Amino acid sequence: MELPLRAELRGVKAYGAPQLDVPVALNVNENPYPPSEAVALEVAAAVAAATRSLNRYPDRELTELRAGLADYLGHALAPEQVWAANGSNEVMLQILQAFGGPGRVAVSFAPTYSMYPEYARDAATGWVVGHREADFSLDVSHALSVIDEHRPTVVLLPSPNNPTGTALPLDTVAALCQATPGVVVVDEAYGEFRRAGTPTALELLPSAPNLVVTRTMSKAFALAGARLGYLAASPEICDALRLVRLPYHLSAVTQAVALVALAHAKELLARVEDLRAERDETVSWLRSQGFTVADSDANFCLFGEFEDRHSVWQGLLDRGVLIRETGPEGWLRVSIGTRSEMAAFRVALTEVTGS
Ligand SMILES: Cc1ncc(COP(=O)(O)O)c(C=O)c1O
Repeated sequence: MELPLRAELRGVKAYGAPQLDVPVALNVNENPYPPSEAVALEVAAAVAAATRSLNRYPDRELTELRAGLADYLGHALAPEQVWAANGSNEVMLQILQAFGGPGRVAVSFAPTYSMYPEYARDAATGWVVGHREADFSLDVSHALSVIDEHRPTVVLLPSPNNPTGTALPLDTVAALCQATPGVVVVDEAYGEFRRAGTPTALELLPSAPNLVVTRTMSKAFALAGARLGYLAASPEICDALRLVRLPYHLSAVTQAVALVALAHAKELLARVEDLRAERDETVSWLRSQGFTVADSDANFCLFGEFEDRHSVWQGLLDRGVLIRETGPEGWLRVSIGTRSEMAAFRVALTEVTGS
């Protein structure tokens, strides 16, 4: 039988980077350091405690978790200004479900996070992409002209950007908030990795009522497997998301795990400093080898340019190093791993490119 798929889903492949079993996996911007044994035991205890009341639905308002996340973010945020879901993926889909929809448009600027067009499609929202400059910065006048032409109800701005690592200046974000008739989402999935002096868009929340700043525990907190994403915005925006969330969308187990993570934030985030240093060293080394590398405020970097990037990607994989073939043609993206993983990457890349 031919399935009654929506027309826009026909012939489409399911999204996903290859999940291959390789010695050195540097392809999905994970944190290479697992939680410590002590944190693992606390998580296990919290899950055991939550299990005793799994016959009941969880707190659908995420009361304790939202208070904890507000505390973690600081910037005088109240719990009503925070919302959470299963990964920032789900947070973003909820934003499009609430503020997008038929006859409306979401805008971003390429290269941008590859999932955004899928969220837009799934929420039956039009999708328009402007461009970034050759150095992956965003030209404000171009961005304003796209916004002026398409009047989006959602603007998606990853900062630091995936796949380029580029962070946006706050005056750019402020100008886009002013000009946008809808909400402006600054996706700070990699926010904790930004270099010293790079500000967070959280600073703009008091002056920009249509701003949403999203974060995740998947990267800096090293909890990609727990699936916990969150956002900070006005109480009205958070309230609107309660209209589209599924009933009890965030399980009691997830909430318990996230609360333990917040209680141990300092320890879980302790490796962020090491990863930033490793990132800066990776950027310098790649440049010293003659590659072009985008400035990065994230836990990965985009480098090139290759005439045949696929053969470089394959050559690395043949040597047990999996990176990501993504971004503009000719570029590759490598996530920052442990010191020894990055050493393996350097050896493999030198062999493959003869640099
Ligand atoms: C820019 C950006 N936003 C959001 C996400 C989604 O992260 P998660 O759903 O794990 O919170 C990612 C994941 O790689 C990302 O790169």
